[in-house]
Amino acid sequence: MANNKKIVLSGMRPSGKLHLGNYWGALHPWLQLQNNNDYQCYFMVADLHALTTGYQDTKDIKSNTEEMVLDWLAAGLDPEKSVIFQQSRVSEHAELALLLSMITPLGWLERIPTYKEQLRELSEREITTHGFLGYPVLQAADILLYQADAVPVGEDQLSHLELCQEIARRFNHLYGPVFQDPKPILGKTPKVPGSDGRKMSKSYNNAVELTDTGDVLYKKISRMYTDPQKIRANDPGHPEGCVVYALHKIYNTQSSQREQECRKGEIGCVACKKHLHSFMDVSSSFRDKRAALTPQTAWDVLEKGNQKAQAAAQITMDSAQKAMGLK
Ligand code: TRP
Repeated sequence: MANNKKIVLSGMRPSGKLHLGNYWGALHPWLQLQNNNDYQCYFMVADLHALTTGYQDTKDIKSNTEEMVLDWLAAGLDPEKSVIFQQSRVSEHAELALLLSMITPLGWLERIPTYKEQLRELSEREITTHGFLGYPVLQAADILLYQADAVPVGEDQLSHLELCQEIARRFNHLYGPVFQDPKPILGKTPKVPGSDGRKMSKSYNNAVELTDTGDVLYKKISRMYTDPQKIRANDPGHPEGCVVYALHKIYNTQSSQREQECRKGEIGCVACKKHLHSFMDVSSSFRDKRAALTPQTAWDVLEKGNQKAQAAAQITMDSAQKAMGLK
């Protein structure tokens, strides 16, 4: 690993098979960073993070980890280039999170917007726990352990990165310079709405998975929300706000032609959906690769990645312990 490369770290909760929103929002930007020679990337299955909101039902964590990593590999994450690992297997994450928790004022955690928002949204779950309040501290440990220069994150995670920067500064101020200041990478990712027009999410039951093909894919496309004012095929339509058009923009290089036909009432929604299906259902190298991977591959990749991640994590842990006077 050349040490003049910038370090990138990012993570995803183990959510099982990925949907198009996960792909365009996170995995695609990861692939671009991986394939840029200026970066050494660490990509993490954030299984401890999954516990912060899902501790009551943990039976799917392992299978979700496996399915997600197989999607990562089939989409092109490459264990020869990137360190692909599992957060809970590298115990330094928990260890550094504990040290950082000592210097993190409660007020910093309580004012994070996602905290109150999730408490409201997940009100059916009992998540007024220490782990849930403290999860941005764990995220800070994830980032600081690898001395990451850059963290690709979605807009919703920006406040966590700011907290991470504040914790790093406070640590360095109290004990001497140990941690690097990580910067966010906010990529321009295309918006991928779910079939009902809301954000694509498994829990909304509106997701198209990367592995969906043929009839399954067509059924999902045919359910997609279009312009409600376009009732007959030759009514003029409004592509803005239409889910099918949003996907044409991503998958069809001639989407502007579709847009004009729609506005002039020259194409109906059914034909437009069939056309989209023809772009999305091409036999992709993703699905071929995915089908050829055995589940064991995911675990073998993680095992090797965990060792590499741990070797890097131990170096920072050692400096942190020494700076704090524990060693
Ligand atoms: N918190 C992120 C999420 O829920 C996942 C995550 C965990 C992460 N640790 C990270 C992202 C470190 C970026 C950097 O989606």
